[in-house]
Amino acid sequence: MAKTSNAGPKSSASSHSRLAIAIMAAGKGTRLKSKHPKVLHEVGGKPILAHVISTAAKVVPSKDVFVIVGHEADRVRAAVGESGVRFVVQAEQRGTGHALMVAQEALAPYDQVIVLSGDAPLITVETIQKLSAFHAAHKAAMTLLSADLNDPAGYGRVIRKTAKGADVRAIVEEKATNVQQKKIHEINSGFYAFSVPALYKHIGGLKTDNAHREYYLTDMAGVLARARQRVVAMKTPHAGEVLGSNTRTEIVDLDARLRLAKCHQLMAEGVTIFYPQTCVIDSDVEIGPDTVIEPFVQLRGKTKIGSDCGIRSYSVIQNTEIGDGVVVLPGCVMDDSRIARNATVGPYSRLRPGSDIGEEAHVGNFVETKKTRLGKGSKANHLTYLGDTEIGERVNVGAGTITCNYDGVAKHKTVIEDGVFVGSDSTLVAPIRFGRGAYIAAASCLTEDVPPDSLALGRARQTVKEGWAREKRNRSQK
Ligand code: UD1
Ligand code: CA
Repeated sequence: MAKTSNAGPKSSASSHSRLAIAIMAAGKGTRLKSKHPKVLHEVGGKPILAHVISTAAKVVPSKDVFVIVGHEADRVRAAVGESGVRFVVQAEQRGTGHALMVAQEALAPYDQVIVLSGDAPLITVETIQKLSAFHAAHKAAMTLLSADLNDPAGYGRVIRKTAKGADVRAIVEEKATNVQQKKIHEINSGFYAFSVPALYKHIGGLKTDNAHREYYLTDMAGVLARARQRVVAMKTPHAGEVLGSNTRTEIVDLDARLRLAKCHQLMAEGVTIFYPQTCVIDSDVEIGPDTVIEPFVQLRGKTKIGSDCGIRSYSVIQNTEIGDGVVVLPGCVMDDSRIARNATVGPYSRLRPGSDIGEEAHVGNFVETKKTRLGKGSKANHLTYLGDTEIGERVNVGAGTITCNYDGVAKHKTVIEDGVFVGSDSTLVAPIRFGRGAYIAAASCLTEDVPPDSLALGRARQTVKEGWAREKRNRSQK
């Protein structure tokens, strides 16, 4: 069932009617000068279109969301296919009106359709619900969402019938405006509610007699008004929600707005973020209360951080799960990894995919890990590479330890059992296993398994030639 808002008794008809959402996303985005489709450019860490879809799918079930794709349709579908929405293909992009013509069959079973623009990601659930209820309450054929913008340039302008009433005579595209109309600050957001039967009864009235030789959906206002169908505008006080992304400058502006809003949402949930303007936090990131994020931190993708953590400056953390009470010191880079509670990482640690840092473990400066498990309370504090390695609990990995996991052809595994002490500057040639409680002498190069509780030495014996230096000096003075 459609989840429309409870906007009073007048709207009760709409909450029982069948509501669909159509998202126009077939355009190329010529003004971006990009080889990628406009709706796949990213803001807040995910494609612009993904934001619109996730909002739409909170208003109606995703099976009632229709995304109209065309330019690079396969790429667009692949990027957002997981969401469970349906797709309509507009093979040739002949304008926003044409996009809706192509969707006629898909939308025919519905009473009302909300039309969203795939390039305007800030629209909210509340505004969509209000638009739907306003449309039903006014028994309109078409309701457009409008907003007052300080700088309306580039947008279509709303021509109302009267100054006070909701009724609209027409929408005039920027290129077709006269001097008088250019001064109108009320713009067409590109979001609409339509009565589906009225839309398709009259859509044949659209013509292509305009600057782009396209079918403009905006012309439906004039077409319906002339056919004595009701066209109204609902002006949103939240003008920021309607902003689109026709240019790179607009995309960067949307990204900044989304990220700042994300920081404010996290702060409302109990996270401290110092200098939020400097932090880059993607929309899907989760953070627990009393965690403190310092300036210039980037949290990307599906990163999840527990409570009472400290994330210090200049760390870039992607798709990583961090438990409660973890401290990440400055300058760490991590991808697709896990860090268990109360561990400490950094400064300058690099956790590559598949790193799994145990409770209370320490990973220190200039340590790189990849597909490596570091057990509870184990430490690798300085200048180390651990690849394809399984390390038990309470292991000490000395400074400068290197696992030689790659022989030029294949990767091999190193296993270091509980309580092993690895002396500094050791070279561990995999595949190799160190038994529980073994002790590895510093500067060893080890190629064979070491049994539990033994000492392994893999280096030349030290020789001392007493008096050698003195004799050398004496020789050179002669
Ligand atoms: C449109 C409106 C304008 C409004 C503005 C708000 C028209 C003619 N103009 O202009 O009044 O102020 O949005 O942002 O509608 N698309 C298709 N198929 C097509 C053409 C476009 O799916 O054949 C999609 C695009 O991918 C885009 C959306 O429709 O997501 C809007 O198209 P766009 O070219 O960005 O329209 P604007 O010029 O912004
Ligand atoms: Ca646009």
